[in-house]
Amino acid sequence: MDLHGRSIVLTGAGSGIGRALALQLADQQPRLTLVGRHREPLDEVAEAVRAQGGQAHVVAADLTAAGAPATVAEEARRQFGGIDVLINNAGNVRAGRLEDVEESEVISQIALNLTAAILLTRAALPALRAGGDALVVNVSSGIALVGMPFYTTYAAAKAGIAAFGEALRRELYGEGVHVLTVYPGATSTPMMDTSKAGPEHGFDYESPDNVATAALAAITDGSLAVIRGGDARRQMIATNREDPAAVDRLLAERKDALEKAVAEHSSL
Ligand SMILES: NC(=O)c1ccc[n+]([C@@H]2O[C@H](COP(=O)([O-])OP(=O)(O)OC[C@H]3O[C@@H](n4cnc5c(N)ncnc54)[C@H](OP(=O)(O)O)[C@@H]3O)[C@@H](O)[C@H]2O)c1
Repeated sequence: MDLHGRSIVLTGAGSGIGRALALQLADQQPRLTLVGRHREPLDEVAEAVRAQGGQAHVVAADLTAAGAPATVAEEARRQFGGIDVLINNAGNVRAGRLEDVEESEVISQIALNLTAAILLTRAALPALRAGGDALVVNVSSGIALVGMPFYTTYAAAKAGIAAFGEALRRELYGEGVHVLTVYPGATSTPMMDTSKAGPEHGFDYESPDNVATAALAAITDGSLAVIRGGDARRQMIATNREDPAAVDRLLAERKDALEKAVAEHSSL
């Protein structure tokens, strides 16, 4: 897909991977609808996009609020006359043993990472379909492919959005709407500020710029998936398919240290 001049809805655009995507997309003079709860970082990104010749419209909204996905889709359609690309990037996380995570924190992770993305896609579909050459990008996580201890709800939500994308891609096959799933590995963004997990726990960080570059390359060449995390992660994904008990044993060795390192990890 050629992104030049396209109307693109990007959620979670004020920080991390979303911000990097917006700034890289700006080179192609898109018409960007930037979504997040806090207006100030979105305004800053919008200014940078306009400085590079793109158009940007800010919508400050909590995507988990009742009716918000429909309102966001309608505002983007009205502002730019249609929607060509929807990037479901906004996400949150709360790590910890399942029984130590509050009920509200379980609900919040599913509400944003899964339900809001499904509802926004549903709301945007008539506009996406109308263009005849459209794309939905769902930002999942490597954790969807290899479930990690202490990330049970996050893993469930991210595996859910990946399965949603696969099913939707097949549902829309031949109908002018493609679906791409992005599986970032550990990425240095504000989401990870409260995590103490490092390479010794199997978390090798890369920059949000690298993830954004890979995602945009996949959009351009029509790929189905972008899996980050390097060779070690690719190997673990393969082992997890062929011999999941081997991954259980590997992670068991790191379990106690990992539990301590991610005890305070929350972006809620
Ligand atoms: N960083 C990693 O290691 C990593 C790894 C795998 C996958 N991912 C995924 O990558 C995506 C981007 O995350 P990131 O790492 O760039 O994190 P981030 O910097 O924390 O960005 C998350 C964005 O989502 C927005 N957001 C949060 N709650 C929202 C809500 N209720 N309604 C609307 N927007 C909301 C935030 O803006 P406001 O606070 O202003 O709303 C923020 O801009 C997420 O889906 C995440 O799960 C990240």
